[in-house]
Amino acid sequence: MATPEEINADMLAFWNGKGGDTWVDRQEHTDITLMPVTDALVAFAAPRAGERVVDIGCGCGAPTLEFARAVGPSGRAVGLDISGPMLAEGKRRANAAGIANVDWRQADPATAELDEYDLLTSAFGTMFFGDRVAAFTNMRGGAAPNARMALMCWRTLAENPWMEVPMTAAAQHLPRPKPVANAPGMFAFADPEHVTQVFTAAGWAPPRFEKLDMDLDIAAGRGLEEAVVQSTQIGAVNSWLRNQPAEVVSAAVAAVREALAPYVDGASVRLPGAMWLISSAPA
Ligand SMILES: C[S@@+](CC[C@H](N)C(=O)[O-])C[C@H]1O[C@@H](n2cnc3c(N)ncnc32)[C@H](O)[C@@H]1O
Repeated sequence: MATPEEINADMLAFWNGKGGDTWVDRQEHTDITLMPVTDALVAFAAPRAGERVVDIGCGCGAPTLEFARAVGPSGRAVGLDISGPMLAEGKRRANAAGIANVDWRQADPATAELDEYDLLTSAFGTMFFGDRVAAFTNMRGGAAPNARMALMCWRTLAENPWMEVPMTAAAQHLPRPKPVANAPGMFAFADPEHVTQVFTAAGWAPPRFEKLDMDLDIAAGRGLEEAVVQSTQIGAVNSWLRNQPAEVVSAAVAAVREALAPYVDGASVRLPGAMWLISSAPA
């Protein structure tokens, strides 16, 4: 089992290397797929005019920009992430959209000196910490007395066919790594009991969990081929395909295409997604 330091070093290398670059390349597509999810997080977090918001693991910043718009010119949003390329893209998009009340900060939420925030939020950005109690303890230090936290995380793989279907298809041609319960990664916060343990150990009140279920258009309205590219260039399947021989990659990609074909709906490819909306406050 890797140590928290090794996990953090791997994450830093991945999100500042090929992983971050691919996310930047695929961001427009990802944002279209996740737009209804972002809208649900913003509604759940209910940002108010004038508030100070930090978006943890903000990536290229689609949710950060929505929070900046919601708090208005008297408020401020900070996008905090370890990925230089993704933050640069966020900044570029904020400038292009003329959104001025947003700052981008490259730092690790587990160790960064944080300002005081009214709202700490994240869309799928808190599941990768090497030491999640340390990170949430440090984040607690950035919470104003009446602050609240509102996060979006994935539920289990079995509840997320948009990922499970391509993974099962690709696994016909590749060794499928055995999942490790609660390991850092997409499903680290799928188990409410585990999340509750982390939060309460880090000085947060026992969280409230709300299920969000929605079909996700993994083609972003661009047809089956784009859904195949998206499913094989980011996420678990992509990590399995790295360093595989070309014939294995093409067989796996063909299997993913075949598995997704039944879900084509015009230019969309819709499969169910299952998320947690999680809220808490300083204990
Ligand atoms: C799945 S992406 C989500 C990005 C963004 N929130 C969105 O919804 O588009 C996960 C993000 O978490 C970031 N991340 C990974 N480990 C991190 C860490 N230890 N601290 C802060 N951010 C981290 C990555 O750089 C990446 O931007």
